[in-house]
Amino acid sequence: MDSIIVRGGAELNGQIPIAGAKNACLALMPATLLSEEPLTLTNAPRLSDIRTMTTLLQSLGAEVSALAGGKVLAASSHGLTSSRADYEIVRKMRASNLVLGPLLAREGQAVVSLPGGCAIGARPMDIHIDALERLGAVIDLRDGYLHASAPAGLRGARVPLRFASVGATENVLMAATLAKGTTIIENAAREPEIVDLAQCLRKMGAQIEGEGTATITVQGVDRLHGATHAVVTDRIELGTYMLAPAFTGGEIECLGGRLDLVGAFVEKLEAAGLEIEETERGLKVRRAAGRPRAVNVVTEPFPGFPTDLQAQMMAMLCTAEGTSVLEERIFENRFMHAPELMRMGARIDLSGGTARVTGVERLRGAPVMATDLRASVSLILAGLGAEGETVVSRVYHLDRGYEQVEQKLSAVGARIERVAA
Ligand code: EPU
Repeated sequence: MDSIIVRGGAELNGQIPIAGAKNACLALMPATLLSEEPLTLTNAPRLSDIRTMTTLLQSLGAEVSALAGGKVLAASSHGLTSSRADYEIVRKMRASNLVLGPLLAREGQAVVSLPGGCAIGARPMDIHIDALERLGAVIDLRDGYLHASAPAGLRGARVPLRFASVGATENVLMAATLAKGTTIIENAAREPEIVDLAQCLRKMGAQIEGEGTATITVQGVDRLHGATHAVVTDRIELGTYMLAPAFTGGEIECLGGRLDLVGAFVEKLEAAGLEIEETERGLKVRRAAGRPRAVNVVTEPFPGFPTDLQAQMMAMLCTAEGTSVLEERIFENRFMHAPELMRMGARIDLSGGTARVTGVERLRGAPVMATDLRASVSLILAGLGAEGETVVSRVYHLDRGYEQVEQKLSAVGARIERVAA
């Protein structure tokens, strides 16, 4: 397994291009299952999770090819040969469950493995199941698999979600495009990735209104056609690199960055003392003199502060002046990075879903290990600001969600390299 070595202390200056959003692309790719005609996605990120989704779609009989070095995905689901998402693939990546809604809508049936445990929380699928049952699906759990069928076809319905789940909103939105009649999703997730999916589905001929609000209305159509769609900018990669100058000083321009993707996050960055400027090409961030200031953070569904930036924010607050309180409200076990940061000298008290972080002058490099994607990158950021050398192992987590992280950071002056084990 590869490791990443970071030698801290170098100021960072320059531009970092931000890729297309992993989590948008992972929802857009299964949308190909809804149509016999080709779907082309541009601005796709080059990540191992995208390759896993490619493998899954291919196992269902879809043709998926990566063009232009992986930045373009050409998919076609002319003749599907299977409706089964196998445990071997689903256990690697939970987003595999996003084939459930499209397969049900197109094939009238789907067999999808339940994903099992996950490093950041239990992550059940009850909201997905309840939502699809409201559209007329019959779903049983047997042998660890959800067996879903829609004997009479899916029918539009009122679908109130007990929580604004991103994945459940995506599954029911895709299923509803081909259901008979009108579906009204209430308490829908409002994330930019949902808006991106709705925009792509509309290009494919779906009739959707209200994406980006809590109520999405879908008028079912008989069939969807082909389309070409550019994946929205990755707001989590954007937020991650926007934090970098807080650790190192200097000025970073994140190319493709947009304020509407990171509103609540930017408010916290400014409160911590970072200066953010909109430019023609993206967002520029610089650290005002001295250490960042402590801020309190509560993670919430969009437009609140994203859980996917909590680990990176915590790493930054480890050297802020004062004590910060971070409350994680989306996942019950998403503080695995805290004990690793403490190995670097951070002062963190954990109690349930709350972390109290008292800033120290400087972290010190150490060998560290991470159990999930966002935790891994938080340790790299911490290493950039730390004294000495930080070795981050289990880098495969990082490769799921950050393309060319060493190249992007070394291009702006970081001392970072990957070593093969
Ligand atoms: N939940 C349930 N039942 C369900 C579905 C969700 O209880 O049926 C709970 C989950 O256990 C969790 C909360 O609801 O506590 C939020 O889950 P949600 O369904 O909104 O998340 P997701 O669709 O599984 C996506 C992203 C995550 C991101 C979350 C929250 C993708 C592929 N994944 O997951 O991304 O953290 O939304 O914004 O879109 C990451 O990229 O590192 C990542 C984990």
